[in-house]
Amino acid sequence: MQSLSCQGRTAVRAPARGAASRSRVAIRVQAAKDVAPLAPGDLVLVAGATGGVGQLVTAKLLERGYKVRAVDRAREGRSRAAQLFPGQGIEVFPADLRDPATMVGLTQGVAAVACCTGTTAFPSSRWNGNNGPKSTDLVATCNLIDSTPASVKRFVLVSSVGVERFDQLPFSVLNSFGVLKYKREAEKHLEASDLPWTIIRPGRLTDGPYTSYDLNTLLQATAGTRQAVQLSARDDQRGEASRIAVAEAVVQALLVPATANHHYSLCSTEGEGPGKNTEGWAKLFAQCYA
Ligand SMILES: NC(=O)c1ccc[n+]([C@@H]2O[C@H](COP(=O)([O-])OP(=O)(O)OC[C@H]3O[C@@H](n4cnc5c(N)ncnc54)[C@H](OP(=O)(O)O)[C@@H]3O)[C@@H](O)[C@H]2O)c1
Repeated sequence: MQSLSCQGRTAVRAPARGAASRSRVAIRVQAAKDVAPLAPGDLVLVAGATGGVGQLVTAKLLERGYKVRAVDRAREGRSRAAQLFPGQGIEVFPADLRDPATMVGLTQGVAAVACCTGTTAFPSSRWNGNNGPKSTDLVATCNLIDSTPASVKRFVLVSSVGVERFDQLPFSVLNSFGVLKYKREAEKHLEASDLPWTIIRPGRLTDGPYTSYDLNTLLQATAGTRQAVQLSARDDQRGEASRIAVAEAVVQALLVPATANHHYSLCSTEGEGPGKNTEGWAKLFAQCYA
């Protein structure tokens, strides 16, 4: 039932080198200019919509008038998407991303995908039933990538800082059961696909998850005095990231075409930050690749 490895429509490729690599990068950068932002009323698939970041992404998209298809596998009776967002233009799709048989029609008609799925880095009850990092961060993510049509405007993946440093302290400890290694493998699978992608790599998550909140309460959540965000094109940050800022970055990536085919590591810092202002985010995104 479960795909055993990250092999789908697009095989995982080793990083290309030399002139061929440069021309491929040039083609991708050119293509990024042609990527369209979300249009009013577009349908966005949110995977992990019942989780911390995913709930906030869903709330933020609904607030702006986009339609959301929320993946909710109602595991252990924890189906929450329908209760969280009643009558808000949300369509709940029951699917387990480890199992392609449950995903038929999942991405049909979607303009973009936000993948916010995850599990714990260390053994916990959430791993029960083969839900550890390999199944979740590699197999499930790759299944979603492979089932997404190339016509989407964007596939945004929430990954993590440390994915390129999983053999260095302190990330080697976090990676004891492979979470960072599998996340990086999934990133590579996305990068090698024919989808326009953006990868957000947050630091240690703070704020939420808001497990019993409704839409209005979710939208009122703030990161206190740490509302500024520090973005980097490289995996060179360590620190904390507010789930609120991460969710906003996911939404803003869908709105700013220049974020296509780029990585951004993200940490929260003291200050006001860009809030929900797209011009402010566009400037921050652009500074990373100036
Ligand atoms: N925690 C940190 O400090 C940290 C740091 C950096 C990056 N991250 C990453 O940031 C992302 C968001 O984290 P979070 O803490 O906000 O998430 P979370 O609360 O752990 O939520 C994870 C979501 O993924 C869903 N999911 C897991 N496996 C699935 C499957 N096979 N099929 C469908 N849905 C599945 C869960 O649904 P169920 O309710 O059905 O399980 C849940 O909705 C994750 O990728 C996480 O690894 C976390």
